[in-house]
Amino acid sequence: MRRGLFVTFEGSEGCGKSTQIRRLAAWLRETGHPCLTTREPGGTAAGDRMRDLLQHAPEGHGLVPEAELFLFAASRAQHVREVIRPALARGDVVISDRFHDSTEVYQGVARRLDPAMTRTVNGYAIGETLPDVTFLLDMDAREAFARLQKRERPADRMESEPLDFYEAVRQGYLRAAAAEPARFALIDATRPEEQIADEIRGVLTEKFHGFFAR
Ligand code: TMP
Repeated sequence: MRRGLFVTFEGSEGCGKSTQIRRLAAWLRETGHPCLTTREPGGTAAGDRMRDLLQHAPEGHGLVPEAELFLFAASRAQHVREVIRPALARGDVVISDRFHDSTEVYQGVARRLDPAMTRTVNGYAIGETLPDVTFLLDMDAREAFARLQKRERPADRMESEPLDFYEAVRQGYLRAAAAEPARFALIDATRPEEQIADEIRGVLTEKFHGFFAR
């Protein structure tokens, strides 16, 4: 039985997801809500190997988009069953840095794979495990791209795409959010960190006041 809350964060590289996840997790723990932070691809030992292949290992450089789709889905199938469902059953708040929307947008839109096939593969990987709320950290693709260029570490395989790829990612996310307004919270990620964190806490406590009142 599912008693916890499943929260996902989505957005382009450089939009500040990690910072906001860190802040939200700290606040949840301070207020007495057990919370598990995780990420995709990865989140399990097997998933981390897939992450390495997808993003860093030289052997991954020639991956075709179809193989990429199955690897993201394989990582997710493992993650859902090994980590996310047990944590939700315990009553934890699970915060995942990316989940199924990333596949719909990156593979289905930006890589132009068949969207129906992408949805089918994704659906098989996640089963009934859908997020209760998804924070989409939105910013102009140019700005996100410029933030990426300023990072000190070298770009990984996924971060080496041209600007129009990120433009397609942004538009894909905005369409996904418009199609499911009850699940998505659209957040303007260009504002100061603290303001964004306040808004995220506000959305969460308002949407799930029953959960936070217990
Ligand atoms: P991140 O650690 O910066 O979030 O990197 C993950 C990269 O993988 C990012 O470029 C988005 C991409 N990605 C997909 O293309 N499809 C997916 O399903 C997921 C989870 C991530």
